[in-house]
Amino acid sequence: MLVLGTRPEAIKLAPVARAMAASPLFEPIVVSTGQHREMLQQMLELLRVPASVELDVMRDRQELSKLTARLVDGLGDVVRAERPDVVIVQGDTTTALTGALAAFYEHIPVAHVEAGLRTGVLDNPFPEELNRRLIGRTARWHFAPTSRAAGHLKAEGVPDAEVFVTGNTVIDNLLWVLQEGTGRDHFSTGLRRVLVTLHRRENQGDKMRAMGTALRRLADRGDVEIVLPLHKSPAVREALLPELTGHAHIHVVEPLDYVDFSATLAGCDLVMTDSGGIQEEAPSLGKPALVLRTTTERPEAVEAGAARLVGTEPQVILDAAMHLLDDAAAYERMAKAGNPFGDGHATDRIVAQLAEDFGADADATPAPRPLVVTQPDGPGSYSTA
Ligand code: UD1
Ligand code: UDP
Repeated sequence: MLVLGTRPEAIKLAPVARAMAASPLFEPIVVSTGQHREMLQQMLELLRVPASVELDVMRDRQELSKLTARLVDGLGDVVRAERPDVVIVQGDTTTALTGALAAFYEHIPVAHVEAGLRTGVLDNPFPEELNRRLIGRTARWHFAPTSRAAGHLKAEGVPDAEVFVTGNTVIDNLLWVLQEGTGRDHFSTGLRRVLVTLHRRENQGDKMRAMGTALRRLADRGDVEIVLPLHKSPAVREALLPELTGHAHIHVVEPLDYVDFSATLAGCDLVMTDSGGIQEEAPSLGKPALVLRTTTERPEAVEAGAARLVGTEPQVILDAAMHLLDDAAAYERMAKAGNPFGDGHATDRIVAQLAEDFGADADATPAPRPLVVTQPDGPGSYSTA
């Protein structure tokens, strides 16, 4: 059973669901919680992952406690009714946490995809850092995207035999979607192109408003075009729309479907984001990323030189963007740093490991190639503080 509820979970579990559907060894049951409504539906259709169960838990501006309660209740019923052999959750959302809890309460083993990410700061990102740590306590399989993530789990006492370094499935999907080649790039001028996304809870309110002001000042340069696909969250819209509407060089658009988003990412010069997934995708396409947060659980991109953690201060953000747009050598260094998040075969490794542990005939599942680890090991948090 694959449990997913938000846009990034759909993107990152889609290749696993597709691989399982194509295998005689598995019968995937996709449970869509509807934590996100429009943004999830958009992804499921596009990625060809039909859901067998839909929960429809989204309510406008729902508090985390209510969302959590609704999800545990609904997912408990689903897990009890279906009694799958394994429940697969991805990442750190409330859907992932409650999927793991619902499985644990029914004594169903949990597999965690994208396991072991940590900032080391319990409430940043909020509530995701706590969610990951809690999911980690429930899981039997920890599919870590990098050796650093695996190192965090081992340092927390997870047995070596339960931790597998696979790469991140986001890269599998990105390569798949770019190969399809049908996306539309949403930049419309010949100016320098800056792609921006913002949505994190800890950035909402005054911080996000101030970041909006910094973006407006960046656009005032006159030689850049900003495209900002706006998250559906009302809190994000309230913070950003007053700052960003009405500027000739800023295009605020509705969330793009994944094909168009990938094409727009591939066509941009610079990424400014607080997204997790986009920090992983940008280095794969050689796009320097400025991470508009005070912490990151993805320091691999920063260490590789592909991303910079710039924090949330408007002047610092503005200076960092100006620097990259004006200094060709600094730009080139970041653009050429490369992608530390996997080789596009994470899904094969995950599916092969589950097949092996469920006793499938080894001949029936081709062994996936070993992952070449490009980043140094080592636990430790990462923040601008
Ligand atoms: C959630 C995840 C976050 C992830 C993000 C991806 C949690 C706690 N957070 O944050 O880790 O990075 O998704 O985007 O799980 N809304 C809509 N339509 C949609 C989606 C959202 O109207 O399609 C609105 C609703 O009013 C909802 C609000 O956005 O209440 C916030 O959504 P929610 O899922 O609670 O949190 P996100 O900030 O999206
Ligand atoms: N994405 C998309 N359309 C958009 C913005 C983002 O398809 O308009 C994709 C993006 O490629 C990435 C994922 O959504 O794979 C990231 O989702 P988000 O930033 O909402 O969540 P996070 O990764 O921070 O949890």
